Amino acid sequence: MISIKNKEEIKNMRLAAGLLTKTFQYLRSYIRPGITTIKLDQLAEEMIRSEGGIPSFLGYHGYPSSICVSIDQEVVHGIPGDRALQEGTIVSIDIGVFLNGFHSDAAMSYGLGPLDPERRKLMNSTKTALHRGIKKCRTGNRLSDISHCIQSHVESQGFQVVRELVGHGIGRELHEEPQIPNFGSPHRGPKLKPGMTFAIEPMVNMGTPDVSILEDGWTVQTKDGLPSAHFEHTVLITDGKPEILTIGIENEPEEMHG
Ligand code: MF3
Ligand code: CO
Repeated sequence: MISIKNKEEIKNMRLAAGLLTKTFQYLRSYIRPGITTIKLDQLAEEMIRSEGGIPSFLGYHGYPSSICVSIDQEVVHGIPGDRALQEGTIVSIDIGVFLNGFHSDAAMSYGLGPLDPERRKLMNSTKTALHRGIKKCRTGNRLSDISHCIQSHVESQGFQVVRELVGHGIGRELHEEPQIPNFGSPHRGPKLKPGMTFAIEPMVNMGTPDVSILEDGWTVQTKDGLPSAHFEHTVLITDGKPEILTIGIENEPEEMHG
């Protein structure tokens, strides 16, 4: 069953998304070559807890950290540690916040320093695919309209979507029904209704779509070692246009774009 949030629940989803947005904005100035990924994790956790939130990922199925930091050929679920960020790489940061009984989930990929043109194109295509998918989050559309739209855009750019990991419903639980694949034929699955809240999250690889899991049991990386990008928003379906509850994570000073 796909949960439908009432007014009060939506208000709380907005509050969780607001704290998540604030956390991304706080982290933004620290996302520079030289900083360790564990430092980013500490900063994010401090911000979330300072406003009464809880990091959604910490302890989730035993996940050991508050955020995921995945670098270059790492797709998602990179565990923060003493590694330092390096110029020329894509760093994908994924954060979840639990506040007032509700979760919000979002991710952004950042280019560190000058990026080569293919990496830059990979990041742009992934972000555009996310936004095209979000445009399909309209009452009356079917779930797989989102999936199909994301896959079509990604493949038109010469890239591939990861099959093993999917977007998801979100609310009182971090992962609710339905699963939202980033691929598939259009016009299938449940009809979208106002009050549904989804985490849409394309993971896009420059080369093979195939992935494997590192010995740490979490980090997902590309099989061919080529880079990957990941963007995610928490989205509310309404009577009209979809509302991107985490849109503020994209507001950053222009000179910071990689
Ligand atoms: N955004 C990720 C997802 O929806 C959350 C990471 S799960 C965790 O799958 F285990 F790392 F917490
Ligand atoms: Co998610």
